[in-house]
Amino acid sequence: MRVVVTGATGGIGRALVAHYLDRGDEVIAVSTQKHQHIADTINGNCHWLWQCPPEDYVGRLSPILQSRLPDRVFHCSGILHANGKMPEKALKQFSAAQLQDNMQANCIAAVSLLQALEPFLNRYSQCIIAVLSAKVGSIEDNYLGGWHSYRMSKAALNMAIKTVSIEWRRRFPQVVLAAVHPGTTESKLSQPFQHNVPTQQLASATVTAARLATLAERLTNQDSGALLHWDGSKIPF
Ligand SMILES: NC(=O)c1ccc[n+]([C@@H]2O[C@H](COP(=O)([O-])OP(=O)(O)OC[C@H]3O[C@@H](n4cnc5c(N)ncnc54)[C@H](OP(=O)(O)O)[C@@H]3O)[C@@H](O)[C@H]2O)c1
Repeated sequence: MRVVVTGATGGIGRALVAHYLDRGDEVIAVSTQKHQHIADTINGNCHWLWQCPPEDYVGRLSPILQSRLPDRVFHCSGILHANGKMPEKALKQFSAAQLQDNMQANCIAAVSLLQALEPFLNRYSQCIIAVLSAKVGSIEDNYLGGWHSYRMSKAALNMAIKTVSIEWRRRFPQVVLAAVHPGTTESKLSQPFQHNVPTQQLASATVTAARLATLAERLTNQDSGALLHWDGSKIPF
């Protein structure tokens, strides 16, 4: 199997890279970082694309996709806190800059990846694409408020996935494109908030990667456009 993982040095991304390499699959690991020693610690058939921001996805991924379409794509790139900015607790903390950063990292980056994939898809292409979103991006499920920019950017991401899936269903009927909530997982992203999470609800990145890989095996084109929990249940938009 050939697998593309973005955000490949992140908690969930790195665990997915390791999961598929352990199985003997070929992995294309995409990262915004400069080359890291991580490349030496992960063995197997891994092609790292270092320093690859979303605006480079088309140029850097195209030569690879041309040779063969991946069977699985996991878009694991995203932010909750960055540049010293924690998610908002109240409206007075909201800033346009924080929303723009979240929109870029959590929504626009994913759309750039879909644009990079599209020229290589046809009506016979079989490819499962899981874009990591978040349950807190559900408008209906929002009972707590807060985290304004993150929630807005993930809601926008969910809409992007739904919209593109409608377009692709006609043209690429065997491609599955879904937004997936990975569940609360130990990572840099969740680290500042883990004390609020009961231990049994906090998964290791390794467990989450295995869950996401299992989910990918079960997805069908009926799931395209949906926002799914890692166990495959639907989360309302
Ligand atoms: N962990 C959770 O509990 C949880 C819960 C719900 C949803 N999610 C979603 O799951 C996805 C993966 O999260 P994670 O927990 O693996 O987080 P993470 O450890 O922080 O990894 C996210 C990765 O995204 C990439 N990235 C791209 N642009 C970035 C930027 N401007 N600032 C920082 N990182 C950037 C980085 O990878 P590279 O440097 O390799 O590009 C980073 O390591 C995210 O979309 C997140 O919203 C996570």
